[in-house]
Amino acid sequence: MTKIWKVISAAALVAGWVAVGTATMVSAEATKMDDGSVAAGKGAEFDADAGKWFLESGDPTYRIKEDGTLDFLTYRGFQRYHSECHVCHGPEGVGSTYAPALIDSLKTMAYGDFVGVVASGRVVHQPGGGESVMPALGDNVNVMCYLDGIYTYLKARSDGVLARGRPKGKEAKPEGLGATEDACLGGK
Ligand code: HEC
Repeated sequence: MTKIWKVISAAALVAGWVAVGTATMVSAEATKMDDGSVAAGKGAEFDADAGKWFLESGDPTYRIKEDGTLDFLTYRGFQRYHSECHVCHGPEGVGSTYAPALIDSLKTMAYGDFVGVVASGRVVHQPGGGESVMPALGDNVNVMCYLDGIYTYLKARSDGVLARGRPKGKEAKPEGLGATEDACLGGK
């Protein structure tokens, strides 16, 4: 089956998405699919075994339907972000006085680097003796087993295709994703 990927201009995407209330800023990377949904980058494919959407690069990605419904993984990421990360990084990834806005970080930060920082943490010594500490969360299954969703949620926010607030809805949970989560949680 041949799929036609339409990379459309930021202006056209904004025009098309005003109806579902998305933000005005849209990354050039966001791609409108031929069924009207949006994903990051080109060539997103659904992997039924994992229950996730992936880009050609192998990075996980979001999939947002025209009516604002999120793929299950990304919706899960929205929930997990707000239980594990938002106390420091602010609601919906917008940052706080304490920790950076991850929706800005993901404009340039690669998926692998994102996973690396979350797993290993980072301590930055500041002039004057203070420390800026991102805790190492690699042993926390409530973070690591859902990190792809946290990433795709923040990436959708960063790409400007997902407005602040509670997402409009979610797709049914793919079987593959249930198995992937169980294996991750149980294998710990
Ligand atoms: C206890 C507070 C705290 C929590 C909880 C926390 N972070 Fe952080 N995080 C920080 C701080 C502070 C920094 C900045 C570290 C520095 O100065 O480089 C940071 C940095 C990061 C960075 C690097 C950003 C950049 O621009 O380089 C990423 C990615 C990140 N955090 C992701 C997460 C995710 C995802 C979660 C939830 C699973 C999370 N953090 C939970 C405090 C926190």
